[in-house]
Amino acid sequence: MNINDNDSSNIQQESPKQPLRVAVLVSGSGSNLQALLDASERQELPGVEIVLVVSNKADATGLQRALKHKITSLFLPWKNRAEAEARLAAVLHLFEADLVVLAGWMRIFSPEFITQFQQRIINLHPALLPADGIGNSYVTSDGTTIPVFRGLHAVRQALDAGVTVTGTTVHYVTPEVDAGPVICREEVIIDANDTEDTLHERIKSVEHRLIVQAVKEYARCFHT
Ligand code: GRF
Repeated sequence: MNINDNDSSNIQQESPKQPLRVAVLVSGSGSNLQALLDASERQELPGVEIVLVVSNKADATGLQRALKHKITSLFLPWKNRAEAEARLAAVLHLFEADLVVLAGWMRIFSPEFITQFQQRIINLHPALLPADGIGNSYVTSDGTTIPVFRGLHAVRQALDAGVTVTGTTVHYVTPEVDAGPVICREEVIIDANDTEDTLHERIKSVEHRLIVQAVKEYARCFHT
């Protein structure tokens, strides 16, 4: 029998791709979560479903944002890290989360927790990290070498260091804080009049685009 390409009986039905199930972890305002929710509503995140939002703070605005979009939202107290991580891992498994997005999540995970979700946790960091996430210097697009600003006050550190360019990075989470391989990043020019707030706001407006791009890219590359 000849196999005829036009014969529909020979066309294998592809099983529909399952959506990438995303959990977003927040500790505060959740403007990056909002960017993901809005992109999802505008159908700009095909094949991605935001299934869960978790906050370690009961009064995080991020929780209100998630509830407005009818996303299951949990407050998970973080008094004892081992206990809290065990609960979080159980919830992530229950919701079958494929990807965990740290969007302003202010708690550091143990290496054991991270190992359970290898290459499945990504973080937004408001400074520029080297491609492999390692090292203490970064070369900007104009060839200037600047320090790598890690930790809680990366925006302030950039201002204090007197650099003229900083930025933001989406990277994989590894046991070393703010040091995982980069998914995407973008430079932000520092204005002479910038305060920590004005600079952080400008960085965030870039982040709102980058985090959507990173999740979209993750779904395209890794979720089959
Ligand atoms: C972002 O600037 C992110 O880089 C940092 O925390 C901030 C969170 O902002 N890790 P929001 O809560 O998404 O508004």
